[in-house]
Parts: sequence; C-alpha cells; structure tokens
Amino acid sequence: MYMLNDWHFARPALADSYLHLFELGLTSARGLFARRRMGKTEFLKKDFIPAAELRGYVVVYANLWDLEVDPATALIAEFYKVVEPKGFDKIWANLKLPVAKIKATGKIPLMIEGTLEAELSNVKKVTGTLLMDAMQAFDKTKKPMMLVIDEAQVLAYEENSHFCHALRAALDIRKERIKVIFAGSSETTLRKMFGVASEPFYNWAPLEPFELLGNEFVEVMVEQVNAISKYPLSLLEAQNAFSQLKNTPEFFRRYIERYLINPLDGEAAALETTKNKVFSDQNFKKQWSSLLAADRVILAMIANDVNDLHGKMALQRLSAELGIELNDVNKNTTQNALRRLANKNIVTKMDYGVYQFEDEAFADWVKHRD
Ligand SMILES: Nc1ncnc2c1ncn2[C@@H]1O[C@H](COP(=O)(O)OP(=O)(O)OP(=O)(O)O)[C@@H](O)[C@H]1O
Ligand SMILES: [Mg+2]
Repeated sequence: MYMLNDWHFARPALADSYLHLFELGLTSARGLFARRRMGKTEFLKKDFIPAAELRGYVVVYANLWDLEVDPATALIAEFYKVVEPKGFDKIWANLKLPVAKIKATGKIPLMIEGTLEAELSNVKKVTGTLLMDAMQAFDKTKKPMMLVIDEAQVLAYEENSHFCHALRAALDIRKERIKVIFAGSSETTLRKMFGVASEPFYNWAPLEPFELLGNEFVEVMVEQVNAISKYPLSLLEAQNAFSQLKNTPEFFRRYIERYLINPLDGEAAALETTKNKVFSDQNFKKQWSSLLAADRVILAMIANDVNDLHGKMALQRLSAELGIELNDVNKNTTQNALRRLANKNIVTKMDYGVYQFEDEAFADWVKHRD
C-alpha cells in the first residue's frame, strides 16, 4: 500500500510573490478565491504559512468552516493560542461552555430557550471584548503578524456581522503590523464582502483568483509515480485524466492513488473508477431536488453553456419546461432564479448574463443527469 502523504507539490514562488507584495507595503490585505478542492488550503498551510514564518511573521490561521464553535470564537481562540498561550485556557473554558451546551441540545425545550438566547448574545458580547483583549496582548509583542482567514466568506453572513465590524476596526488601526489573507471558495460572497459599500470590509482587500494548479503539477505527480512504480504512467494519459477530472487536484490525487494500488488494471480503469466516485455524488441529487423548478431549468442551461440567459430562447425554454404560457414568463423569472442560485453559492456571476458553477463536478452532473 502506498502512502501519498508526501505528495505535496510545493509552490514556493507563489508563496514568495504573496509575501513580496506585502513587503512592498502597498497593501496590507489580500483576498483570494478559487472553487472547491482546488488547493487553496493546502497552499496556505504547506507553502504560504511556513514561508511567512521563515520571514519572521507570527502566523494565525483560522478556517471558518470546519469549526465546532462560531467563527468569532474560533478566530479569537487561534489568535490567543499564538499571542498569549498561557492566559488562554481559562478564557477558553468559559467561552466554550454555552456554545457547547447549545450544540448538544439540538431541540431546545421551550422553557430554557430564553436562557440560551441570553447566553448566546452574551457570547457575542464576550467575543467583542475578547477580541480587544487579544489585540492588546498582541500590541505588547514585537513580531509582525500574518492573519490567514480560510473560508472567509463566512464572515459575510448576517449572524457574524457584529464580530465582522469589530474585527475590521481592530485590524484597521494595526495595518502596519498585521497583514491579512482572506481565502474562500465562494466568489460571489467574497465579492460582496469587499465590494459592497455597506459591508464592513468594503474596499479593504483586493480580490483576485487563486492561481490554479496545471501542467507542472501533473508532470511532477507523474514523475513521482514513475519513481516508485514498476508500471509507468504516461504523461499524456495523466494530462488527459487531469482534464477529465476538471483540473481538480484532489480528484487527480485520487486517480493517482487508484492507479498505484491497481496498476494492472491500467490508467483508463483508474480514471473511470475515479470519475464514477467523484462525479456521481448522492449530494448532487439531493441538492438538485431541493431546487425550485425554474432554478433547475436555469441551472441546466448554465451547465450546457447557454450564453444568453436573458434572451428569447431562454424564456421559451422556461415556458416549455415549466409548462406555462410564454406570456407568463419574463426576465424576472430568470433574474430571480439566478439570484437564488447565487445566494446558495451554486453559481457565480461572472458578467452580465454570464454565470458559472462554483463546483465543476456539480456542473458535470447536471449536464449528464439522465
Ligand atoms: N499543491 C498540491 N500538491 C498536491 N496535492 C494537492 C495540492 N493542492 C491540493 N492538492 C490536493 O487537493 C486536495 C484539496 O485541496 P484543498 O483542500 O487545499 O482545496 P481547497 O481549495 O482548500 O478546497 P475547499 O474550498 O473545499 O476547502 C488536497 O487534499 C490534495 O489532495
Ligand atoms: Mg480549503
């Protein structure tokens, strides 16, 4: 059995280019986005953070998605761990309690609902104060900080708005010493976060696409395979596989693994198995059936690269598939569907009337369903 733990494709130049821009001093924050499973977290953790540490930054990393607590608490916790690990344990124990209670309850009996709500709002107040405390502890230290916020779009959710304002205020006055990376998989939400005037982080960080892994990544992976396997993998086949797997590094790694474990079955079989596994997700079915009929029609058009979603053809298709009179569908039908799909982070608006799936695998599933 091969262990593929050490198969990280290092990207030192990319890490350096990020650090370099911070060092030029033109910006103190950056936002980067790419779709799911494209390697953002792996880059941040394995390339960027070690490089930042080498340059003398203290690094705080928080992933706002895989959390057992709310993002505010998590971020402060990570912050404290780095800045003042000793004083932290006590605060943490106090803070965690009410949240843990709520999580455990699931269904909340009516009589204690009020108490829990009070405790929750208490947590919110406490996190505001704690953030200030944490920042003040940081002010007494010497090193610059790199704050890496992964899945940062979570900050834009309504329920986190209080904390988001507090965070922005705290960071505003520390731009010299705290550099921030916001990373996320929802371009729509990140765009809103940095591009809408009423949002706390409006204009706070330039937002740019994360550089995706490409041919060089495939080449290095193939070299690795061929260094350990008796059954060489051809670069051409691997490139084809990468493309069929929607250029998704995670899926490609699974393909490689499959190939190494069953080399005698050959490359084509490894690709077929991997595709079946990654593209026939039960979740897609669930997601699809939870959508309104109009949203499904629109989504299918996007999956099939229909360009003019607002045009006459699109309206005709809506009318035909929904079984309603052409007079009764109009541009609002399309507009509303697109808004719902974007709010659910299923699609991202690229331009007027041009939309793209956030998850290419879902696009493929929609396109090829029955
Ligand atoms: N540089 C790399 N070298 C080797 N494999 C990689 C690399 N980057 C990503 N991968 C593979 O892709 C997988 C997904 O990467 P990662 O979790 O970083 O994606 P992500 O963009 O953060 O996705 P999400 O938005 O779902 O969090 C990794 O677990 C790994 O298998
Ligand atoms: Mg990630």
